Amino acid sequence: MRIKRILKGILKWISFAILLALFVGIIALFVAYWRSTNDCDQLTAAQGDKMKAIVYCDYGLANLKLADIAKPTPTDDQILVKVHAASVNPLDWHFIEGTPMIMRAMGVGLRKPKDTRLGVDFAGMVEAVGKNVTQFKPGDEVFGGRDGAFAEYVCPRADRAVALKPANITFEQAASVNIAGITALQAVRDKGKVQAGQKVLINGASGGVGTFAVQIAKSFGADVTGVCSTRNLDMVRSLGADHVIDYTKEDFTKSGQHYDAILDNVPNHSLSECRGVLTPEGKYVMIGGGGPNDNRWIGPFGRLIQTMAVSPFVSQKMGMMMAELKKSDLNILGDMMQSGKVKPVIDRTYKLSELPEAIRYLEEGHARGKVVITVE
Ligand SMILES: NC(=O)c1ccc[n+]([C@@H]2O[C@H](COP(=O)([O-])OP(=O)(O)OC[C@H]3O[C@@H](n4cnc5c(N)ncnc54)[C@H](OP(=O)(O)O)[C@@H]3O)[C@@H](O)[C@H]2O)c1
Repeated sequence: MRIKRILKGILKWISFAILLALFVGIIALFVAYWRSTNDCDQLTAAQGDKMKAIVYCDYGLANLKLADIAKPTPTDDQILVKVHAASVNPLDWHFIEGTPMIMRAMGVGLRKPKDTRLGVDFAGMVEAVGKNVTQFKPGDEVFGGRDGAFAEYVCPRADRAVALKPANITFEQAASVNIAGITALQAVRDKGKVQAGQKVLINGASGGVGTFAVQIAKSFGADVTGVCSTRNLDMVRSLGADHVIDYTKEDFTKSGQHYDAILDNVPNHSLSECRGVLTPEGKYVMIGGGGPNDNRWIGPFGRLIQTMAVSPFVSQKMGMMMAELKKSDLNILGDMMQSGKVKPVIDRTYKLSELPEAIRYLEEGHARGKVVITVE
């Protein structure tokens, strides 16, 4: 009887502690939400040399504005690049909308974006270099990735994701490479471990990542199948795909074919359907994670958890990839473009002031290759 009473007491205190922790957690979240702010005021009030840049003080496409902000000065290890072109990625609309919401709790900013600058991919000309920089000099044409690329200038570190632009490609083409090209390269080489003669299927072959992936997989000697809609069949074929599947007419998971690797930019089939068309040792590489409004709370994380849960129990290797922006991979892509193995596909170009329209177009989910921003 006494033990029962003690257990009851303990249970009561545990329940109380859990409720208290929940209450404190909710209050803390509420306070953090309302205290969440950013550097917007300082950014636009800066004195000295100015440049034009896209700034957003609050989440939402309607809050994007072209503002005059301080022109950056390179530190000893940085270079100052005059941006000629930048490119748009689905990543940008994730940051603009602050979705999936879980991103906000992961440091992107609960109520307002912490970082008020946008864009990553750029190409342009080096205007000045820091005193420790030996790899670049003023006048060099470069391309790469640096936060805040929707602007007239960026200052990447010389030893990070920036490389010399091959002479045979334009600034617009070079600006399209960084995220999409590196993602495609790492998906084919590191995650898909694609070997000559292997059969590779690329779902979403006509988009930014897909158009690079088809060409890269082909340059590795693979037998490539590209999945896209009717209007893109010829384009994907022209990039080197050996076979094309029109998703409006045929479901690749019911084709009866088996692939050594599936590179999935559009995870619109279940994992078991995808496994059904993989060889026993095949690799499923999840690259894409749905559109801007798919699962606004956790985005691709639900499928990621599913993939991780399935992987240990099946013979195939199933996983999601996160591209890592690396100088060495930019150099490899530069060589591929120089030798003509890879040619960036540009769908549309917009001016810097037209960024919202560019984002709106990308958001529709039917870009043919890359959407590029020109910066005068
Ligand atoms: N994991 C990473 O590190 C990483 C890096 C970069 C990008 N991503 C993600 O990868 C995905 C693709 O990026 P992206 O830059 O290539 O996007 P994108 O340029 O917007 O690609 C859109 C393409 O998807 C195709 N598509 C739409 N519905 C389709 C369907 N049902 N079946 C087959 N294709 C379909 C469209 O072709 P049609 O016009 O023919 O429909 C279009 O060409 C995004 O989700 C992005 O967030 C992930």
